[in-house]
Amino acid sequence: AAASLSDLHGRRHNYLRISLTERCNLRCKYCMPAEGVPLSSRSSLLSVEELRVIVGALAAAGVDKLRLTGGEPTLRSDLADIIQSLKAIDGIRSVSMTTNGLVLARRLASLQRAGLDAVNVSLDTLRPDRYEDMARRRGLARVLAGLDLALQLGYSPVKINTVLMRGFNDDEIGDFIEMTRERDLEVRFIEFMPFAGNEWKSGRLVPHREVLRAARAAHPGLRPLPPRPNDTATLWKVGGYAGTVGFISSMTQHFCATCNRLRLTADGNLKVCLFGAAEVSLRDAVRGGAGPAQLLQLVRAALHNKKAAHAVARARSGRREEAGERRGAGGWGA
Ligand code: GTP
Ligand code: 5AD
Ligand code: SF4
Repeated sequence: AAASLSDLHGRRHNYLRISLTERCNLRCKYCMPAEGVPLSSRSSLLSVEELRVIVGALAAAGVDKLRLTGGEPTLRSDLADIIQSLKAIDGIRSVSMTTNGLVLARRLASLQRAGLDAVNVSLDTLRPDRYEDMARRRGLARVLAGLDLALQLGYSPVKINTVLMRGFNDDEIGDFIEMTRERDLEVRFIEFMPFAGNEWKSGRLVPHREVLRAARAAHPGLRPLPPRPNDTATLWKVGGYAGTVGFISSMTQHFCATCNRLRLTADGNLKVCLFGAAEVSLRDAVRGGAGPAQLLQLVRAALHNKKAAHAVARARSGRREEAGERRGAGGWGA
């Protein structure tokens, strides 16, 4: 096996997030504008075979965890194929997916048969009218049905990603935690991050401190659990409840120091940070005939550019600019 993928800050990268498409069947305001985002042509997306070559190279250097994202990954009609092929690669221990949950009730059973190990579902409100307002589409009932099915199929826990926005859903913190009473859910409250084209304003960010205060007020039995290495979330649990509660504080307490993540965009670019630009096109390299050794060389060169912390955090601590002036390039994408 090749040496592990370390950067200049001593972080080892064993987790690859792969965006399978930029398309989405929702238009969440915190993610994209009403008209959607620019889409790559079909031919510029990575094929199953190209994904296999790229992941194969990375797996030989220690990548063992994959997450499929989007846009909305379930919009790829070859998703089951992709899962099955990636799961078969030597060294890959888990393949999970982050989804908006709209089609889980219809498709999760077949994805599980293909080898899907875990599923994270984005869900920002439990109220139908708010859901439609935020996502600019209907769908809450389908997402809830998808969650139930995921639990039935044995996914444990099913993680729920809830982006909190002041004045929109910050009054639902208690209700979300209530969902963990009987069910094996991990509800994770996420700080709203600025990306090009989303509706971020610093006033809409609910800082972790405040979220925790509201959570404890609603559920006084909330207690911290021991930290898990490389986790984006700090974990808590209400005594006696089946599930857990996580806090993802990307803005006020960023976890860049333990970052183990690489990203592949739908059109095959490697990113070394969520907030960073594309470093290199692994797709072009593969299409030009690059083998595993050459691919790894490109990845290692890109990792040399990885900063100790994301640009927004650096802006906040360093030059005291308004963090919103440093938006992540090109939207969410992986
Ligand atoms: P697990 O593997 O289940 O822990 O999932 P995850 O948290 O790595 O992935 P998921 O796609 O569910 O992402 C949930 C949230 O984590 C996102 O909304 C982001 O807020 C945050 N996140 C994930 N990866 C990164 C990252 O590399 N940097 C930052 N700043 N936030 C991230
Ligand atoms: N801030 C924080 N999280 C976001 N996500 C998408 N856009 C943002 C944002 N601006 C979340 C989604 C999804 C995860 C992959 O990223 O809710 O669960
Ligand atoms: Fe789609 Fe997820 Fe973005 Fe919402 S947050 S528009 S579900 S990719």
